[in-house]
Amino acid sequence: MKLPRHLAIIMDGNGRWAKDRRHSRVYGHLRGAKIAKTVIEDCARRKIPFLTLFAFSTENWFRPLEEVAFLMHLLQRQLRRETQTLMKNDIRFQYIGDLERLPPEVRAVVLETVETTADNKGMVLTFALSYGGRQEITAMARELVRQVKNGLLEEEDVDEALVSGLLASSFLPDPDLIIRTSGESRLSNFFLWQSAYSEIEFEAKPWPDFEVNDLERILTAFSQRERRFGRTSEQALRP
Ligand code: IPE
Ligand code: IPE
Ligand code: MG
Repeated sequence: MKLPRHLAIIMDGNGRWAKDRRHSRVYGHLRGAKIAKTVIEDCARRKIPFLTLFAFSTENWFRPLEEVAFLMHLLQRQLRRETQTLMKNDIRFQYIGDLERLPPEVRAVVLETVETTADNKGMVLTFALSYGGRQEITAMARELVRQVKNGLLEEEDVDEALVSGLLASSFLPDPDLIIRTSGESRLSNFFLWQSAYSEIEFEAKPWPDFEVNDLERILTAFSQRERRFGRTSEQALRP
């Protein structure tokens, strides 16, 4: 089966899943964290080279304070608890997003996890934390201006590869497949530049109900898609 080199997942629907069960939204996030662990281990087992999980967006800071605090605490707790799982599965942990906005103790655990897993050679697991595609592109534009001002770059040097290289995600290939759970058909500011030719799968199930069987089904469908990148079918079929 042809696997995506880079799989990205927008883990959505925790709050509504919990509400449907008359629980508080945070109960949904707890369950969501469990699902994330299962999916991470399954992707590592399948030898998917890059997995990115959208865990917290720039806009998620506008949620009620208690929910934001809970999500931050949960992130810190899970990373602490699961470092050994990452080591055991040879997973290298990375992040994209504005880490400066995270509470210092959470930021510290994120950086610690990056460091501890730095020499692992298996799957690269990236958490998008306080991440927004527009913010990422804006930061790239600022860096471009800075480099031109300082005489490090000429207008003619600016091409797509240079832009990609100045994004926070420069260490990642573009995502081949993006999955969003919970039935919403939008990207919500995720990987705006990088998703130019991503296959996108909108899955009806909310994230807390997502199972490895669902992943299997979606990966099988992905392996059967024809990716043409603007060419004709005949051209795309040629190796
Ligand atoms: C995804 O679930 C988790 C985060 C965005 C942090 P939501 O919390 O967005 O759940 P819904 O979409 O409100 O159901
Ligand atoms: C996107 O989900 C962000 C994450 C899954 C982390 P949201 O729930 O924040 O997106 P909207 O508000 O429904 O577009
Ligand atoms: Mg949501």
